[in-house]
Amino acid sequence: MLSPESLPKVAAQISLRDVSVRLDGHQILTDVSLDVSARRIAVVGANGSGKSTFARLLNGLVTAASGSVNVHGIDVAAAIAAARKRVGFVFSSPDAQILMPTVAEDVALSLKGGRDRGEIARRVTETLEAYGLADHADASAYSLSGGQKQLLALASVLVREPALVVADEPTTLLDRGNARRIGNILIDELPMQTVIVTHDLDLARRCDVAVLFDGGRVRAVDDADAVIDSYERMFV
Ligand SMILES: Nc1ncnc2c1ncn2[C@@H]1O[C@H](COP(=O)(O)OP(=O)(O)O)[C@@H](O)[C@H]1O
Ligand SMILES: [Mg+2]
Repeated sequence: MLSPESLPKVAAQISLRDVSVRLDGHQILTDVSLDVSARRIAVVGANGSGKSTFARLLNGLVTAASGSVNVHGIDVAAAIAAARKRVGFVFSSPDAQILMPTVAEDVALSLKGGRDRGEIARRVTETLEAYGLADHADASAYSLSGGQKQLLALASVLVREPALVVADEPTTLLDRGNARRIGNILIDELPMQTVIVTHDLDLARRCDVAVLFDGGRVRAVDDADAVIDSYERMFV
């Protein structure tokens, strides 16, 4: 675990204090406290250990029964709309995120509100070019391959320039090549802080810090290699 001395003096960008989550009468997370400011944060742990619940707390998709969740200076429970603006969420299944008939419209939808049409068009074009989707701008989102759909889901989140991207198993449904491509974008290309929930331990090792969940509790928060080493030892 990080010792208090090694924590940064500035407020951590992701800070959970004694968070418990109960859903449908079940205790899902128990007394989770965590302070992380690393740029790339992996979240690992067995199925059902609480990873997705933790990820969803960060943008208010799940509400804590007790404790506080603070993300980039925002108390998520007190200011859900502000939190959702700052935190972009990517799901495993891009189909859950695609809302509009065409690729360009889907990315543009994320940008609606307070921007003129010229600016929206410019940013949509830039984003589609950045993620290799420019040739598909007017295609039906549902005609894309699985890898392209996940790129579109990511592009629709990134076009809003969130301060934090949370990706819950973003490569689970992808073949090796597409998983690598999405992994490379998340690790090497994004300027913002990124939380990646993943069972791909090679991807997790490329993060700066890893958080290990076990039975709804945080078992470890440390340098990614150290955490993944200890996680792998749980299976021998
Ligand atoms: N809405 C819910 N109602 C009851 N139990 C739930 C609900 N959502 C998740 N759970 C349970 O909470 C535990 C943690 O779930 P989750 O955070 O999705 O784990 P992970 O992402 O690590 O697989 C699991 O045992 C799951 O079955
Ligand atoms: Mg999950």
